[in-house]
Amino acid sequence: MTTPDPQSYHVLTFGCQMNAHDSERITGMLEQRGMVPAADQADADVVVFNTCTIREKPDQKLYDQLQRVKGTKRRRGGNQVIAVGGCLVEAHRDNLLAEFPWVDVAFGPGRIRDLGNYLELADGEGAGVGHVPGESEGFYGIADERSFASELPTRRDRPHQAWVQISMGCNMKCSYCIVPAVRGKEVSRPFAEIVEEVERLAADGVREVTLLGQNVNSYGNHLPRDGSPRTFAELLRAVDAIEGIDRIRYTSPHPAHMQGDVIAAMAECAAVMPQLHLPMQAGSTRVLKAMRRTYSRERFVDLAAKIRAAIPDISYSTDIIVGFPGETEAEFLETVSLCEEIRFDGAFTFIYSARTGTEAAAMEADFIPPAEQQRRLEHLIDVVRGIAEERHTRHVGQVQEVLVEGAARRPAHHLRGRSPHNVKVVFEGDAPEGAIVPVRIVHATSETLLGRQVTT
Ligand code: SAH
Ligand code: SF4
Ligand code: F3S
Repeated sequence: MTTPDPQSYHVLTFGCQMNAHDSERITGMLEQRGMVPAADQADADVVVFNTCTIREKPDQKLYDQLQRVKGTKRRRGGNQVIAVGGCLVEAHRDNLLAEFPWVDVAFGPGRIRDLGNYLELADGEGAGVGHVPGESEGFYGIADERSFASELPTRRDRPHQAWVQISMGCNMKCSYCIVPAVRGKEVSRPFAEIVEEVERLAADGVREVTLLGQNVNSYGNHLPRDGSPRTFAELLRAVDAIEGIDRIRYTSPHPAHMQGDVIAAMAECAAVMPQLHLPMQAGSTRVLKAMRRTYSRERFVDLAAKIRAAIPDISYSTDIIVGFPGETEAEFLETVSLCEEIRFDGAFTFIYSARTGTEAAAMEADFIPPAEQQRRLEHLIDVVRGIAEERHTRHVGQVQEVLVEGAARRPAHHLRGRSPHNVKVVFEGDAPEGAIVPVRIVHATSETLLGRQVTT
């Protein structure tokens, strides 16, 4: 008797770290079920797309992929199960399966735990397990029950670094953003459960954790006030106290929740890295208000200064949207000048993209023409790149502690890792993956530091 070959899978991920981490759970779950990675997508018995719908671009990428996989599936005589998960599924819950009938399984980000069961029901015939009699809406999981996938195993690509989800959903109402609609109300994971997960990770050799949530620093606001620790600041301190965890990062915080206790915890905890992603979005108070960001330009400046006073060498990164409906040239230039004032070490810059159902999508009369949005984006990218290079140059001559991630792609025989400020470092040296080694920085670009390991 021969044992049948194990089934193979291919997972393709779009979107943010939350999604990337969800994909680790998805992959871990598939492997627990005895499946193995496929050599490529066309060879896979099960293809999972973990989708994003934050802007139009990721939507389009998925549609292209779905057309491609339709052909592959046909060539395999229908013998391929297609599962689509993630945020886009929530946004298109009413029509996804009708539009793409070769999709077998659709599941929301709150339903990863159940994916295994859905796959068992799937027969590759398409038309969606979501439509199995008696099992309808519940498959999608946002208006319905959502749960953390925290008891699923994860498959991490990097043995010494791990993401830890601490909350899901978002209660903010940023007028451009679809996340609250697709990820639902904010829910915090129990404090003790998070600490236990990090302890397990530490025992497993993890040295760096990144705490994840859509609005990570409002963690705990909705946990019961029973005297036990529950705030984000307390969580930072508890994770800092775990033996073996040398580096703590978190993303994405909202400026409105950067309270004094969080800043103090960052400054006092040795393992919390001197790096913060502080999404600014725009530099004009009028635009910030239209975005419903809840802070003015001045409050953002004050906050950045307050944090810098507590952690003088902190590196800031940010997210910025250009071409928000009604943004004038003068308002755009306020974004540019705020970047120059704060001096971010890096910035993710986006062109405003209208998302169906969001408040800003209704401001159609004020939409900025795409060519103008593009021009503003290119101008802004030039500015933020120049500032990033200048900021990184401050490290030249310094010795930085680098967490080794492996061999660099180039140049040959170099290693790559991350500095405390989360900058990529490419260096000459000899150290195993997972080691933290001193590296003298000899050169800086807007994205990378180059250096040489210091031998003692
Ligand atoms: N919860 C996080 C991340 C949200 S999505 C946060 O609040 O920071 C990541 C970034 O995408 C946002 O910070 C914003 O800059 C950008 N973004 C969100 N919606 C967008 C839209 N409709 N158009 C363009 N950029 C958008
Ligand atoms: Fe979206 Fe705003 Fe929530 Fe971030 S804080 S996920 S931008 S609604
Ligand atoms: Fe995209 Fe969902 Fe993240 S829309 S950015 S994958 S929360």
